[in-house]
Formats: sequence, C-alpha cells, structure tokens
Amino acid sequence: MLPDFVSPQADLAPYNTLALPARAGFLARIHSVEQLATLMRHPEFAGRPRFVLGGGSNLILAGDFPGFVLNMRIPGKRWLGEDADCVYLAAAAGESWSDFVDWTLASGWPGLENLVGIPGTAGAAPIQNIGAYGAEISEFLHRIVALDMARDGKTRAFTARDCAFDYRDSIFKREGWHLSGRYVITEVVFRLPKAWRARAAYGEIGAELARRGIQNPAPAELAQIVTALRAQKLPDPRALPNAGSFFQNPKVPARFAAALQSAHPSLPCYPQPDGSVKLAAAWLIEQTGWKGRNLGAVGMHEQQALVLVNRGGASYHDVLNLSRAVREAVFARFGVSLIPEPVTLAAPSRAVVAPEK
Ligand code: EPU
Repeated sequence: MLPDFVSPQADLAPYNTLALPARAGFLARIHSVEQLATLMRHPEFAGRPRFVLGGGSNLILAGDFPGFVLNMRIPGKRWLGEDADCVYLAAAAGESWSDFVDWTLASGWPGLENLVGIPGTAGAAPIQNIGAYGAEISEFLHRIVALDMARDGKTRAFTARDCAFDYRDSIFKREGWHLSGRYVITEVVFRLPKAWRARAAYGEIGAELARRGIQNPAPAELAQIVTALRAQKLPDPRALPNAGSFFQNPKVPARFAAALQSAHPSLPCYPQPDGSVKLAAAWLIEQTGWKGRNLGAVGMHEQQALVLVNRGGASYHDVLNLSRAVREAVFARFGVSLIPEPVTLAAPSRAVVAPEK
C-alpha cells in the first residue's frame, strides 16, 4: 500500500505555472524530512525515476512522467543566530520564496529586497540561482541542507562554494540532481550582512528612485519599487500561465558583442566579470517582431518579450514550436543562440533536458 501522502496517476497541470497538461505516475506531497525517509524505504519507490518539484514556476512539462514527483512542501522559517557581521536565517524547502523575503523584511533583516516577489519555493531557488534587479541568491547563501536520496539517505551540507553558482546555474542543475532526485534540498540557510547597502544600480530602479525623488532608499522602498516593476512587466501566472523568463540572457564573447552593438547601438549589453558580455534576450526577441505575437495556443508576452505565455489549453508541442520559431528568428537576424531557461521534465527514456538546446 502506498503511504497516504502519495497519489498514483496524478494530474500535474495545477503544479506547473505554465499550466501544461501531464500526469505523474506517483505524486508525493512531502511535508517533512521523515516522509522522505518513509518514501526511501517503500518498495514502489525503488528503481523508479524521480523528480523534485518546488512551486513549478520554472518548469516545462514535456509529457507524462512515469515515476515519482516529489512535491516539496516542508514548511518553516527561523532565525538561527548572528555574529558581529551577519544574521543567519533558515527557510525550509517548501516555504514560498516570496513569503520568506517578506518575512525577513518585516522582521527587520534587510538584504533580499531586490529578490522580492519571485515565484517558487525557497528549496528550488538556489538550484537555478534565482536573480533579479541586480541581485542573485548566491550572494546571500550560507548553506544548503540536502538529503542523499540515491545512496544512504543521509543529510549533507553544501556551502555556497560547493554549489559553484553561476548565472541561473548551480552544481545541482549542472549535475542534473533536480532531474534525478539524487539530492533533495530540505533547508536553505541565508547570511544577511548587518551592514546593509542599497542595490540601486539596476537601470530601472535608479530611474524609479529619481522619479520619486529618493536619494537614500530604505529596504522597504526598494522592495516596493521592485514589486511595482515586476507587476508592470511580468504576468501573474494565476491570470496568464507562464514560467517567467523563457530564455536565458545569452553570454557572448566581448568582440562579438561589440560588433553587434556597433550595428545595433540600442542593444543592451552587460559586461561580465569573466570578460564575456551578456545580451538582453528580450531586446533581441522584440527586434524580430515576436513580442506580443502568438503561435498556436502560446505567445511571447506583450509587456516582456522574454516571457512565453499560455493563452489557454497549450500543449508541449505549442511551446516547442514557438520556442523553435523564436530561436530561429533571433539566430537568423543576430547570429545568437538562445537557450531556454526553465527546466524541462520528460520521461527519462526520451532524455529531453531542454527543448532545442
Ligand atoms: N527589453 C526589451 N524588450 C522587452 C523587455 C525588455 O527590449 O520586451 C529590454 C529592456 O529595455 C532592458 C533589457 O531588455 O534594456 C532587459 O530587460 P529587463 O530589465 O526586463 O530584464 P530581462 O533581462 O529581460 C532579467 C531576468 C528576469 C528578472 C529581470 C529583472 C533572466 C533570464 N531574466 O530579465 O528574471 O526579473 O532581469 O532583473 O535573466 C526569470 O528568471 O524568470 C526572470 C523573470
């Protein structure tokens, strides 16, 4: 008999913010670490594919998944301690990231205000190193606690260094641990410096501060500005299903970026510490005319060309077709290859990792 927190043949449509149709062989709603241990001992669990699911806000479902989907719902957020420089705060994997950030701000621990309002869970956030408005989660990460589900079921701690973070990337994503269910993140610990400084370098934040006549913004003011900016451009998945940015901002060699920018002076370019240059994928897409256009039941959003939206009843093939059309248009015009940003979940035998890589 299956444990009572596991449902066979479960509908995954409500579990992905792009609202694609798919079923899971088994859906386990995980509310505690003990339930993970129960699952590991269960004979049905052995040898079946697994996938660890947070809020489903960065996910493309490529069809039915025959194995176990572990929907992480472990609750809890707490103050762990402090030293002279920092305060340490823990979020259990199932906490809503957005609620966690709101809690830190309301409790008087600023630092995460630029990352306010990002959908998804705290446990999923480090996997793709979520970032927005000039900040990334990796800058504040102290430790990740994860359970080794493939071997001994023991807990392992990862430091920020162990995670080898990069732009929308970490060792968890690179090694495919989110797809294989090897390490299941149960808790994330943040270190917020007591010497707070406003991060206002992001163009739109600076412009909004100037417009409001604010010179030394408080954390709450920055949170409010970020919330307003997000609301202007990023569609609420409850009203218009989407998975946030559908493509990464491509990193290209500096010489290539310089040549492109001399041909297209308004192309936004962001020099990176490693000498490469990040280009604004939204700008590239908008230039090809795909902003606000539909193909099948999906389209690129009219306020943010980087966001692919489900206009109603979309299938994975709709998503694949539009993704392909946009990538081809951008490549034909600029010679730049766009890489999808969300994780794609497919039946393991089909070995799809991302559409059209
Ligand atoms: N732009 C356009 N057309 C558009 C939208 C934007 O030309 O339709 C231009 C803007 O004028 C700007 C540039 O593109 O010069 C960048 O736009 P924006 O500031 O909106 O950010 P983005 O690069 O498109 C990234 C993240 C978002 C994050 C925002 C804000 C990625 C893949 N996306 O988008 O993250 O919220 O910056 O910091 O890095 C997500 O990952 O799901 C996500 C929403």
